[in-house]
Amino acid sequence: MKEKIDAIQAEALARLATADDTRALEDARVAILGKKGSLTEISAGMRDVPKEQKAEIGQLLNTARNAITAAIESKQAELQAAADAKALAGIDLTLPARALSHGSLHPLTLIRHQAIEVLRRMGFALADGPEIEDEFHCFDALNTPADHPARNEKDTFYFDSGKLLRTHTSSVQIRTMEAQAPPVRIIAPGSAYRRDEIDATHLSVFNQLEGLYVDRDVSLGDLKGTLEYFFREMFGSETEVRFRPHFFPFTEPSFEIDVKLHAKGQAPKWIEVAGCGMVDPAVFAAIDAKRSDSSFSPDQVTGFAFGMGLDRLAMIRWGIKDIRLLIENDIRFLKQFA
Ligand code: PHE
Repeated sequence: MKEKIDAIQAEALARLATADDTRALEDARVAILGKKGSLTEISAGMRDVPKEQKAEIGQLLNTARNAITAAIESKQAELQAAADAKALAGIDLTLPARALSHGSLHPLTLIRHQAIEVLRRMGFALADGPEIEDEFHCFDALNTPADHPARNEKDTFYFDSGKLLRTHTSSVQIRTMEAQAPPVRIIAPGSAYRRDEIDATHLSVFNQLEGLYVDRDVSLGDLKGTLEYFFREMFGSETEVRFRPHFFPFTEPSFEIDVKLHAKGQAPKWIEVAGCGMVDPAVFAAIDAKRSDSSFSPDQVTGFAFGMGLDRLAMIRWGIKDIRLLIENDIRFLKQFA
């Protein structure tokens, strides 16, 4: 029996020593310690060992079992270490980490932020209003007669209820003056909607920024100074700005504003960037009628208003040829602003 135990132990340790993967190790463990394993079987022989030898044989079996268990554990650790080393081979932990790719603001957001920043410095506060408007705030209060082409079904999105998607942010001027007596100095950036055919320069949803300043003695000089300063801040301090007479129902006199653009490799040219004018007294009259007071009496106050397309400013600033690029979210386009 003793020799047998010694032989089994020697054989087991030899087999474990040559097990070179976890599969071989597991097979060896089953062959030695499993239900029908060599050590299990010989242990069963204890029954037949004469009483006086039991202690000694039992001792031997224990020693063999401990030696074998220890050999299995150390082999396991050895195989695991080898597997870990293999997994790490080829990885250079001293290499610098891969750069994270950053997102960036959309060009329209960039231009809106800049425009707001410049106008806030001049004391304009942000104002807001609904995109689903009624005819009063979008047209009537803005002195726009019922037969004006802008009110046409072909130009404006109407709901069955008679409400409409605002065609300009000028409606925010009206809402602000309804709620607040002069002085009023606000800007209203936001979406506007027109039933335009979509092409390289038109979208049916675009982004406007509108401004209004009403107080005692606001003059055309204030309007010109404010907007010249604004466009020089936006396009560079040397930018030439000109005011061309125009017509808007809600301002009198009215102007369109052009800036002279010097694009690389091209002859300088005038580009239209905004509409503006002195608030028409008829608009003040409509507000006072609605407010039932005379806060905006044309004898007391004057004002100027202006409105521009932010999409257009972005196109001019970055030489973007097609307005649709601004809504397509093509990463190759957007990346250029990162
Ligand atoms: N509301 C005009 C437009 O959408 C712009 C404008 C605003 C013109 C204020 C004059 C004064 O075209």
